[in-house]
Amino acid sequence: MTKIYAVIGYPVEHSLSPVMQNAAFKYANIDAEYKAIEVMPEDLGAFMQFSYNENICGLNVTMPHKEAIGQYVQADEIAQKIGAINTVYKEKDKFFGTNTDWRGIVDPLKAATKLKDKKVTILGAGGAAKAACYGLFKTGADVTIWNRTHEKAEELAKRWGFKASEEVGDSEIIINCTSVGFEDAEESPVSSKVFKYTEIAFDVVYGVETKFTRDAKAAGAIVIDGLEMLLHQGYACFEIWTGQPAPKDMMRSAVKEQLTVNN
Ligand code: ATR
Repeated sequence: MTKIYAVIGYPVEHSLSPVMQNAAFKYANIDAEYKAIEVMPEDLGAFMQFSYNENICGLNVTMPHKEAIGQYVQADEIAQKIGAINTVYKEKDKFFGTNTDWRGIVDPLKAATKLKDKKVTILGAGGAAKAACYGLFKTGADVTIWNRTHEKAEELAKRWGFKASEEVGDSEIIINCTSVGFEDAEESPVSSKVFKYTEIAFDVVYGVETKFTRDAKAAGAIVIDGLEMLLHQGYACFEIWTGQPAPKDMMRSAVKEQLTVNN
């Protein structure tokens, strides 16, 4: 029987995950189909009941369900430490929740540079920032968190032994984990002056060139955009679900092709 996987969220119709994961299943010759399913917050419980009854083998979970889904699946240690679930997998007929968003942030950074002792500033203190903290904790990077609501930055920093700052200081790496460019690509959470000493600027927003990435490029920084986050978290999901190495090139070209069609 064809195995069913899906991304659930609200809204979810613009998700690139179906294109990415279906390309991978096809290439790996796995009889599986990945769908995008819109689930309203009030329907999440009923949907999870439906998932248990049907042949759903795994899920990606996106806004606004990343925390609420914890009521219906067993969160693993990573998801518990981050405080959010973006991936659900099935083992012995039971659903478990994990988180691969941290891989989406740390794997591209590791591929670009050595992180130990690097001065890293995380902008934001929401879900993406929490995943970044988990991933960076293990690398030995020197992390400072800045957030519009400073108390939240302090709370998150305390949890990981990082610093919190009300100003964005000189940093070798700046990661935009706020939703600012997502809502309006012409808005940036920081002034263009902050990139003076920046080696790498990473924006978790994908699909558009944001002011954040434009300013960073103009200052001479290497830019990593949210497409890398999408791909690297997706590679990790495929490996969790199938136990096979992800066909990375195939997944990347499928997503790029779809973005060309969309634009
Ligand atoms: P996600 O799961 O994508 O990280 P989230 O949990 O809703 O989304 O977090 C959004 C982040 O973007 C928060 O850090 C938020 O700051 P606050 O904690 O002060 O709300 C940040 N953010 C949203 N709009 C912002 C804005 N206009 N300027 C600066 N930061 C903003």
